[in-house]
Amino acid sequence: MTSLGVNTRVVLVSRPDGDPTPENFGLESVPAVSPGAGEVLVAVDMLSIDAFIRTTLDDRDDSLHGSAPIGSTIGALGVGTVIESGDDRFQPGDAVAGGLGAQTQATVPTAFLEKVDTSRFGPATQLGAMGLTTGLTAYVGMKFVGRVTETDTVVVSGAAGAVGTFAGQIARLLGAKRVIGIAGGPEKGRYLVDELGYDASIDYRAGSIDARLAELAPDGVDVFFDNVGGDILDSVLLQIHEGSRIVICGAISQYGDMNNVTGPRNYLKLAERHANMEGFTVLHFAGRFAEARDDIRGWLTEGSLVEHNHVERGIERFPHALDLLLTGGHRGKLLVDVSGNA
Ligand SMILES: NC(=O)c1ccc[n+]([C@@H]2O[C@H](COP(=O)([O-])OP(=O)(O)OC[C@H]3O[C@@H](n4cnc5c(N)ncnc54)[C@H](OP(=O)(O)O)[C@@H]3O)[C@@H](O)[C@H]2O)c1
Repeated sequence: MTSLGVNTRVVLVSRPDGDPTPENFGLESVPAVSPGAGEVLVAVDMLSIDAFIRTTLDDRDDSLHGSAPIGSTIGALGVGTVIESGDDRFQPGDAVAGGLGAQTQATVPTAFLEKVDTSRFGPATQLGAMGLTTGLTAYVGMKFVGRVTETDTVVVSGAAGAVGTFAGQIARLLGAKRVIGIAGGPEKGRYLVDELGYDASIDYRAGSIDARLAELAPDGVDVFFDNVGGDILDSVLLQIHEGSRIVICGAISQYGDMNNVTGPRNYLKLAERHANMEGFTVLHFAGRFAEARDDIRGWLTEGSLVEHNHVERGIERFPHALDLLLTGGHRGKLLVDVSGNA
């Protein structure tokens, strides 16, 4: 193997107990590695900070996204440029997206990558509005699981985050009658209404959301797109009615202790009200990605879909960015630009 430049990577030093702390991570610089057959060496431009990363930090056999061994590079999706290729289908200069890991020079199997066109929509949009774990997740969850119609009152939790900002806007674009966002703090509430076109917002940090939700959705909630789980899911279950659809996109309130996930106490409302709760992962809808990207591209172009990216700069900011995600210190899509580390 030939050594090239330097790869700076974020490794797992110890497993977090609850929210990760800086001590759980280390930064290493090692020689970049030439790709073998079926691999490419990629100069990473931008990394996506996603909730699933937290679940990979635990030692669990049944973790959906795998369990990072101590000392390994933290898993992350990213966009970068091929420098050297061991696969005829990828050439130096190609822009690629996929599982690059939290590092600056990634040697990875091409099976984990797809080519992307960054000429019109750059790396941030490729990972955000058009990205697997963000825009595509919001689109397929709202359209094919939530099955939003024009008579629907839609509620989104985690509404000011990456998936949430797109889920609410997409509900509106699909014709929803009323869109209500749940997020932490008054500033995020104003952001939802003033900048994203939500009809109303609820600040869950101000206390129980029950009364405010009943006031904002007096006829009940038709579609609940849930990113949070826990108490918020329980509160919304009290407001559903016959035929409501509860979309389980995620449960970020539970990721700090996955051995003790708390399910909904009010799930019997589903039976009482003949409602449906359905979970999904975005990969269940791979056959719909082309359609989703076409729509999202069109909405971005006509300006009816707004993207808000929170970009941290430098690979060393990766642990801080993950902390922001888990504590809500951002709006929209969280990214780490590592192009300056090259
Ligand atoms: N099903 C799929 O295929 C799929 C794919 C991608 C992501 N997801 C899920 O989508 C959800 C959102 O992910 P994301 O990447 O878009 O993150 P994000 O929404 O950008 O960030 C997470 C947000 O969750 C909120 N939050 C954190 N802890 C909370 C708690 N205990 N109670 C209430 N809110 C809390 C914070 O906002 P506040 O300031 O409002 O608290 C934070 O901004 C996650 O559950 C993730 O697992 C699912």
